Amino acid sequence: MIRINEHYTKLKASFLFADIASRVAEFQKNNPEREIIRLGIGDVTEPLPPACVAAFHEGVDEMASSATFRGYGPEQGYPFLREAIAKNDFHSRGANIEADEIFVSDGSKCDTGNFQELFARDITVAIPDPVYPVYLDTNVMAGRTGIHENGRYNGIRYLEGSWENGFIPPLPEDPVDLIYLCFPNNPTGATIDIKGLQAWVDYAHKEGALILYDAAYESFIRDDELPHTIYEIDGAKEVAVEFRSFSKSAGFTGTRCAFTVVPKAARVFDANGQKLLLYDFWKRRHTTKFNGVSYPVQKVAAAVYTPEGQAQTRALVDDYLENARLIVAGMTDLDYDCIGGINAPYIWIRSDADSWRFFDLLLEKAGVVCTPGIGFGRCGEGCIRISAFNSRENVAKALAQIKTALAG
Ligand code: MLT
Repeated sequence: MIRINEHYTKLKASFLFADIASRVAEFQKNNPEREIIRLGIGDVTEPLPPACVAAFHEGVDEMASSATFRGYGPEQGYPFLREAIAKNDFHSRGANIEADEIFVSDGSKCDTGNFQELFARDITVAIPDPVYPVYLDTNVMAGRTGIHENGRYNGIRYLEGSWENGFIPPLPEDPVDLIYLCFPNNPTGATIDIKGLQAWVDYAHKEGALILYDAAYESFIRDDELPHTIYEIDGAKEVAVEFRSFSKSAGFTGTRCAFTVVPKAARVFDANGQKLLLYDFWKRRHTTKFNGVSYPVQKVAAAVYTPEGQAQTRALVDDYLENARLIVAGMTDLDYDCIGGINAPYIWIRSDADSWRFFDLLLEKAGVVCTPGIGFGRCGEGCIRISAFNSRENVAKALAQIKTALAG
């Protein structure tokens, strides 16, 4: 008899964004004439930068000729891409990360979801609230939690964000083993400075913990004082893994390429407290379960690091940042409290109703899709997230429609 992993039955029936998509589809079915502007899921709308498009064509042409055709590539990624990443994303920030500490993959959602497989089932996991749901749901699937009650899974140590702490959660009061952090933050757009991040690294050293640091939105940082990578922090290589993605920085949500950094200095412990190298275990897992990202796509990712690619991706991100600025200004004018939207593509807004009611109001009256804060955790209740990923024209239209809807 085939039996299910019963931990899956503890999960909500569908993933947040699938839930929203089906509500929006239902609304559209009942209101076929309504134009809907999607500022919900953070999916990019603008085309790949020209340097990437040219590299894509070249890569496909190479695959079309027997002289240049490639089969399986190195599971960890082609050296030309890993070397470009190490130089441009880390050495340029004074972070001593080597190319062979980089694991190229098809997405940070998969990597942040898969990484927890390496750890014992009975570790204590600290997860921010509100949070990108993947971190939580994958730990539920792995059996690290009890049941879901009052908006919380038993067994998880929630790190509460609030308007008072600027949605930068405090350090745990008791020891924890695994800590998820994301900055610039999804969903709130909050950012962390060097001193704030140093406190987490020091905590991880003190408790023998590991930080899984999701930096998928790093390219939105424009403030020179903010760290772009956790490896700018003293001592981080021993206690942190970092996740990066080309999805939002270069418009790769449909192209798929990301990478995870596992420094050789990062340590993990066995049941006797003996130190082991985390690197060896992730390498073993990655090379066993993954056959690499396609060659043309890795060429496209490498094109991001050419001078043209750097200029074009910066302009792309600047464009979304200008949308974010307009959304913050528009919602602030309507007297809503906002955080994020500066150094981040998400704007977190205090609503004047519960988050699903505000979601419905914006959908029905303004034709705008946002994401209800409660979908990211109990501390997100009473908030919504608006994403800046859309065209300028649609953002302007959405803001005008929101203004009319909320004034009326
Ligand atoms: C989001 O809207 O939170 C993101 O698009 C999710 C993701 O990148 O997987």
